[in-house]
Amino acid sequence: MTEPQKPATPAAPAPPSPTASVTASSSSVTAEILGDLATKRRRPDPTAIVIFGATGDLAGRKLAPALYNMMLDNAMAEPAAIIGVSRGELTGPQFAERLKPRVAEFSRRKVEPAMWDKFASTLDYVGGDFDSDATYIALKAKLDAAAARGTRGNRIFYLSTPPAVFPLVLQKLQQHALIERASQGSGKPSCRVIVEKPFGRDLNSARQLNEMIGGYLHESQIYRIDHYLGKETVQNILVLRFGNSIFEPLWNRNHVDFVEITAAETIGIEGRGAFYEATGVVRDIIQNHLLQVMSLVTMEVPASFSADDVRDEKSQLLRSVRSLDLNDVANHCVRGQYRGYRQEDGVAPDSQTPTFAAMRFMIDSWRWQGVPFYLRAGKKLAERLTEVNIHFRAVPLVLFKEEAAGSVLQPAVLTLRIQPHEGISLRFVAKVPGENINVGNVLMTMTYADAFKRPISEAYERLLLDCMRGDATLFNRRDSVDRAWELIQPVLQIWEATPGVHLYEAGSAGPPAADDMIARDGRCWRELVRS
Ligand code: BG6
Repeated sequence: MTEPQKPATPAAPAPPSPTASVTASSSSVTAEILGDLATKRRRPDPTAIVIFGATGDLAGRKLAPALYNMMLDNAMAEPAAIIGVSRGELTGPQFAERLKPRVAEFSRRKVEPAMWDKFASTLDYVGGDFDSDATYIALKAKLDAAAARGTRGNRIFYLSTPPAVFPLVLQKLQQHALIERASQGSGKPSCRVIVEKPFGRDLNSARQLNEMIGGYLHESQIYRIDHYLGKETVQNILVLRFGNSIFEPLWNRNHVDFVEITAAETIGIEGRGAFYEATGVVRDIIQNHLLQVMSLVTMEVPASFSADDVRDEKSQLLRSVRSLDLNDVANHCVRGQYRGYRQEDGVAPDSQTPTFAAMRFMIDSWRWQGVPFYLRAGKKLAERLTEVNIHFRAVPLVLFKEEAAGSVLQPAVLTLRIQPHEGISLRFVAKVPGENINVGNVLMTMTYADAFKRPISEAYERLLLDCMRGDATLFNRRDSVDRAWELIQPVLQIWEATPGVHLYEAGSAGPPAADDMIARDGRCWRELVRS
């Protein structure tokens, strides 16, 4: 006769860190490149790129280094023409000189004199106010000259300016016949606009902005950028899920206990006080980057990798995310601000702007009902890391009758490491060699650097190239942007109406209130470790 079995006891919450118990790990991975599954990506047509806000931080930190590296990769069609527009008078060569140290600092490859000279020769500049007709007349003359040299009138306008300026710039571009609404099969040169995030500052302003831009351009000409979507590791989420048969059967409420998505930064606001005061972490990271990552982790399989099929599924998923109510904001959302933020330039001495936020979302879908998704983002934290942790359910403990089994047998965790040390790891338990049934955690890790031994290009390189090719798959469509604002709107409204930000020490894991929030659900965050 067999003994009656004890009912399965729920296992203790997962440990804060994958290395909390005896952990063995190995990083030996053999990669074999199997082939290109997408349609051959065509080289873009020669295109002029106009950057509004060309002397700003983004242009120096991301756009110019990306364009420089694209030139080194021979990815841009020649002739290239890059025209900066900003206030302040500069010649083309002065603009190039101004960008050079930024490119040297942020480019993934070294700035070599010959290559730099070639790049500098593609740069030009128009100085002037965005509301002045003279600015657009000068820009038109430069675009006409570029077209005659070979860009054939194809153009991209990159709006790297505060959103408040977008209407003015678009109105002036239209008035000077620099943008034109596309009509199918017109055979006219391409005309696209890239719009930086945050797209609006709340639901209403985003809707108005969409209406306004939609009045000038067809949706197919509007590229709402979220640079997270250009990261290799973010794109790999779909390949991992849909290119392997072993994950998808487990990717649901029957096997997943909870999911954590963290975007932790060690840097502060980097001199962007005024911008950050008006933005805060919810608008800066959660409304866009983290909700996008969450939708890729949770969406259903698209009919194809085409822009609309992928974006349809993401949009459908965001529609299934449960709207937060007052109670959710009070109990499942936490805001923090690092000590010292109020002393930064451009920041109010009594600022309530959050530099850290943690929140819980539920998805009311067949696949995800009941599985909590914990999102967390912050500045000046202990560690720089962006990661998705899929925590699987605990096993029934019928075989393991020792009292301690519940805490020893930790459930498996699949980690999608978005940055740095890009890769994937799986933590599971294994028997430690010896007489007893002694178990330890093991960590199986694949890093891109080891596996493929190729440099990972920057997100902006991929996205600029896609825009030049007219491929909008990795850009946000109007409906998703709208829904993402709808989702975070209650948080913004309540937080902005009531003070209550928790202060946290720079270099910490954020405010303890965030730990309490997740602990109330019997879980804990992945530990952030100071190096
Ligand atoms: C930007 C935010 O969108 O993303 C910044 O405005 C943030 O505040 C940055 O620092 C983080 O991007 P990444 O690629 O360095 O993780």
